Amino acid sequence: MDDPTHTTPELGAIEHGLPATMRAASRRAYGSAADVVVDTVPRPEPGADEVLVKVTAAGLDRATLHLLDGKPYVARAALGLRRPRRTILGQQVAGEVVALGADVTGVSVGDRVFGTAAGSYAEYAVAKPSTLARTPEELTDEDASTLGVSGITAHEAVVGQGKVRLGQHVLVLGASGAVGTYAVQLATHLGAHVTGVCSATKLELVRGLGAERAFDYRASSLADLGSAFDVIIDIAGNRRLGELRSALTPDGALVIVGGEGGGPFLGGIQRNLFAAVTNPFTRQRLQWFVSMPTTERCTRLAELLTAGSIQPPVDRRVGLEGVRGGIEAMQRGELRGHVIVCP
Ligand SMILES: NC(=O)c1ccc[n+]([C@@H]2O[C@H](COP(=O)([O-])OP(=O)(O)OC[C@H]3O[C@@H](n4cnc5c(N)ncnc54)[C@H](OP(=O)(O)O)[C@@H]3O)[C@@H](O)[C@H]2O)c1
Repeated sequence: MDDPTHTTPELGAIEHGLPATMRAASRRAYGSAADVVVDTVPRPEPGADEVLVKVTAAGLDRATLHLLDGKPYVARAALGLRRPRRTILGQQVAGEVVALGADVTGVSVGDRVFGTAAGSYAEYAVAKPSTLARTPEELTDEDASTLGVSGITAHEAVVGQGKVRLGQHVLVLGASGAVGTYAVQLATHLGAHVTGVCSATKLELVRGLGAERAFDYRASSLADLGSAFDVIIDIAGNRRLGELRSALTPDGALVIVGGEGGGPFLGGIQRNLFAAVTNPFTRQRLQWFVSMPTTERCTRLAELLTAGSIQPPVDRRVGLEGVRGGIEAMQRGELRGHVIVCP
């Protein structure tokens, strides 16, 4: 099937009280935020190994931009060459399980869950249970809906790859964004001395999350930051590998998470490949990764949130009609925390 988010519901589900159609924020072709429309589409039906989630909250993240414009072009091998295979936007999700595929075990109708579900900017979305976890009672769906991509990516960068420890000096580049705000808090929680780099208007936000120092990337270069860092979490800025390595201790760790502006074809992946090739020849650890949501990772993040160790700063809550405006605000660099889409 070309678009798995646009399947026709079977009669069985309708008999169980679920509507045949739903409202969703989608686009039919690659383009910009201006192409996002909210309309009524067929409700998706879960496959045998999937569950149907009634979406209550869905966090916005930078990947939405890449899904919109289909760039870097190399990603179109997975997204669809000439037009997007999935038309409904959204990845991060929180909500309630309302239907189960025939082979699903360990999940029940009525469970509150969060994690990832492709096409989550809609009233309903399907997901594999392996990308979801139960939402603890103490957690709101809005907070939980920022964990599936942004939280898990930050955790993998700081804890998994960076192996940040008590007393280390950690630099977070892109500290004010969806991933960065979690990365700053996680490194602080582990007892590190955190320096955050972001734009001037967000310095206070980043300090408020636990960073001891915060610098404006337009006013300071890495060389100005003074000390050598044990770990650099490189989320934004797309800086050259040599510049990043100069800011590291001789056996420090660089964790490349992302960075916009790496070119329309490869999107900066060449930097990651260069790091992988260089890594065996240096005492520094030069790493990159693609985050993978799992039930276990989601659960670990939820525990940290429940314990109050981390908190998602929320910029705004919007309905489906607000998806376009949220994306545009992200592009303009206006956001001071997460955008939560509540269908
Ligand atoms: N590896 C993975 O699996 C994975 C997973 C998720 C995301 N990512 C990638 O990670 C990156 C960040 O995602 P996100 O959702 O956190 O995006 P985001 O919310 O837009 O955050 C990016 C932040 O970086 C700041 N920034 C921009 N230019 C900078 C620079 N030169 N130096 C330092 N900070 C700068 C921005 O601040 P201003 O807006 O104030 O300029 C913004 O707050 C994206 O490239 C995304 O594709 C990778």
